[in-house]
Amino acid sequence: DFKNYQVDFETGFMLPNPLESLPPYFDSWNKLATNLPDLVKEKKFRDEVYKLPLLNHNLLEGCKQLRLAHLQLSFIASAFVWQDGEKEATKVLPKCVAVPYFNVSKILGIPPILSHASLVLTNWGLINPNGNLKCLYRMPGEAEAEWFVMVTAHVEFTFAKCLKPIIMMLSEIKTIRESKSCVLGTGFVTEAAALQVAQHLDALRECISELQGALSRMHEKLTAKTFFNVLRPFLGGWGGEGNPLPEGLIYEGISENPMKMTGGSAAQSSSMQILDAFLGVQHTEEKREFLVHMRDFMPTEHRRLIEDLEKWPHKLRDVVLSSKSPTLRQSYNNCVQAVVNLRTYHMQIVTKYIVTASKEANEGNYESLDNKGTGGTSLIPFLKVIRSDTQQKLVSEK
Ligand code: HEM
Ligand code: ALA
Repeated sequence: DFKNYQVDFETGFMLPNPLESLPPYFDSWNKLATNLPDLVKEKKFRDEVYKLPLLNHNLLEGCKQLRLAHLQLSFIASAFVWQDGEKEATKVLPKCVAVPYFNVSKILGIPPILSHASLVLTNWGLINPNGNLKCLYRMPGEAEAEWFVMVTAHVEFTFAKCLKPIIMMLSEIKTIRESKSCVLGTGFVTEAAALQVAQHLDALRECISELQGALSRMHEKLTAKTFFNVLRPFLGGWGGEGNPLPEGLIYEGISENPMKMTGGSAAQSSSMQILDAFLGVQHTEEKREFLVHMRDFMPTEHRRLIEDLEKWPHKLRDVVLSSKSPTLRQSYNNCVQAVVNLRTYHMQIVTKYIVTASKEANEGNYESLDNKGTGGTSLIPFLKVIRSDTQQKLVSEK
């Protein structure tokens, strides 16, 4: 049952009905987060941060207020650090932000830096009850920045449709594995059972193709130039070799030692990791390490869902491998291939929005991100390995 994992059949991993603003006591955060794009543009954001009062985070009530506080403080911290380009990055995050930010993050179990959970999962509303998606809070880059977030949100909503076929198959596979018709090791799955699973795999394949369609909408309203030069720098992390803040950022009032944090990336999305876990796609060595590290940025229940799926003893892939049904094998392969295609498509996006953009439209204010993902990977070489791990899971169809 996915209900225990804060996953919803309608919204998937998106927070259902997120709050739009915090109670009046927190108005100074509400205002600053709302006015962020303009203040950054005028280079007045930092001055405003120094004027913030130190508010008591214990007055935040319930998960939705905490999630929104994390969103607002993430936006505020990121704009504060990066407003004037990487050469002018600040080394100290003032107490009025750092103290509540660190504590709210601790309660939520996610790090104090802008990440997918806040930027996307908590940052949406509807323009009217049946209307289009809107962003609650915006990063620099105006309508284009909003589009980036909304398309990513749309991908998450589309993923929600994958959940039903996955749930159905999880219970079918359990039944198959526990019934006499599947003598483990001898590899016998009845044709009827195989066909039923195959049908749900076909539905899943449909949904995965839809993910690609959703992702393709990025091109409609986001230019590589704005993404690369205006929005992306604000997703950067702190700490590590080559980073403008190699030692990390000091969270004043928390510790005198700087802390290192990985930047925001849709690699922090649970959706792809669920598909990998369910289909039995494994990554190895430092690639897996990176993806497992990305789980630190997921709301804890979502992280647990991926871990539990990986540990779940009744594996789809085992059933496929022990079945002689060409239909089942083909349906499984179609799903794996759809994920390969999705990853190929995503690499094309990365080429356009990062690799090519860094050569063509590079304004030079944030050079440390020219050859790296905001999550710190090597871009295409990294993504290629992830894709080939996926491709390797195709099974013979005989
Ligand atoms: C990984 C870029 C949109 C899902 C990555 C990485 C980069 C990247 C550079 C490598 C990790 C890192 O260092 O950050 C982009 C760009 C996008 C974009 C430039 C759009 C302009 C999306 C969207 C999604 C997504 C909308 C869907 C939610 C992923 C996933 C990974 C990843 C799941 C982990 C690798 C994998 O599982 O294949 N992305 N991304 N990306 N991205 Fe994106
Ligand atoms: N992870 C994406 C990048 O590196 C957003 O630009």
